[in-house]
Amino acid sequence: MEKIIIKGEKRLKGEVEISGSKNAALPILTASILTQGWNTFSNVPALRDIETIKKLLKGIGIKIEEGESVKINADGLNNYEASYDLVKTMRASVLVLGPLLARLKRARVSLPGGCAIGARPINLHLNGLAKMGAKIELKHGYVEAKAKKLKGAPIFFEIPTVTGTENLMMAATLAEGVTTLENAAREPEVIELASVLKKMGANIKGEGTEIITIEGVKELKSTDHTIIPDRIEAGTFMTAAGITGGNIKIKNCNINLLDSVTRKLEEAGMEISYKDNGIIAKGNRPIRSVDIKTLPYPGFPTDMQAQMMAFMCFANGTSVISETIFENRFMHVSELRRIGADIRIEGHNAIVKGVPDLSGAPVMATDLRASACLILAGLAAKGKTEISRVYHIDRGYERIVEKLSKLGADIKRVAD
Ligand code: EPZ
Repeated sequence: MEKIIIKGEKRLKGEVEISGSKNAALPILTASILTQGWNTFSNVPALRDIETIKKLLKGIGIKIEEGESVKINADGLNNYEASYDLVKTMRASVLVLGPLLARLKRARVSLPGGCAIGARPINLHLNGLAKMGAKIELKHGYVEAKAKKLKGAPIFFEIPTVTGTENLMMAATLAEGVTTLENAAREPEVIELASVLKKMGANIKGEGTEIITIEGVKELKSTDHTIIPDRIEAGTFMTAAGITGGNIKIKNCNINLLDSVTRKLEEAGMEISYKDNGIIAKGNRPIRSVDIKTLPYPGFPTDMQAQMMAFMCFANGTSVISETIFENRFMHVSELRRIGADIRIEGHNAIVKGVPDLSGAPVMATDLRASACLILAGLAAKGKTEISRVYHIDRGYERIVEKLSKLGADIKRVAD
């Protein structure tokens, strides 16, 4: 195991390059299951979750060639099972369900089980596939799905689900007839997946709105694509500028994908501008307290909630942070309290009372975005903060220690 050690109170300055989006790359790599021939994907981030999905794809007979870009060929697809040992480490593995059913008419995927932030059921994925004619059974912790031929169907999501929308959109591309996904997720990563599927020959309309229509086609061909930058990584670095009172240029990221985050950071007193495809984020003092409510896109992203909480620990005044997406995404609160934060939880709300400063101490990462939160807090806290269980951070942030030290942070990674 390793830990990250940070000596706080350094203002971050300079430029940072954002890596490819984890939550765009994961469904796009699984979409290759639907195609014949070689797909070439560039700007795929080097992350643990990406390694996991590659292992899973290789395990079902897919050829992957690594290099500058990732080349994937599904012609040798010969297995429809995604095993528990892989799925339990990353619930996004459930994204192979729809493509496998569409391509092999069968799929056996381990139920992902919960994770630190919540139970994270997949009932909406399964109900949708059943509506498309799949026979779904749950046996020994696995989803066993069969479908002679998936048929297009009208599907309504009780709640907008990102990977649910992606799973069913992929399944629908090779189904017979038209599928409509109502109350669909509108995240940029859903739009990105749709654009790749259309390059492969799929017939999709309405992506980015709450109704997506997919007309099935006979087959999909391989394509090339460059993964978009990770908007959550970009938002995390913007918050790093705010929390340290620094000035960071975040290169190659489309600010329009971060409207709700930018607005909140500006409300907190930051100056944010955008020029030649770069976001300039400047932190100011005093930090103003702001209320946050996480919502499906285009609302404030739940994946930025923990990072914003770290920032609000230093604000003048009290912020109310309400987490409406996941039932247990406040694991970082007890760790923030260890370094002096004044936060109390009331149901889905965290009441964050700003304090003049935090004092560094050993803390423990519990999940991906909680790790980012603790790193941000450590950057601004007095003294030394040691963060253990940093394997969580490797799931979603590529080379974060190098990127932060290049911006002037006193941060290092050591064996724990
Ligand atoms: C995606 O997870 C992201 N992961 C998450 O990012 C992100 O936090 C989440 O969307 C919300 O934006 C990937 O894209 C790989 P949901 P997903 O289905 O699709 C409930 C990160 O940090 N639900 O949109 O699993 C669910 O419990 C990760 O990068 C059902 O009840 O999230 C949650 O309360 C963490 N039944 C809500 O819907 C279902 O069948 C939204 O979940 C599916 C979801």
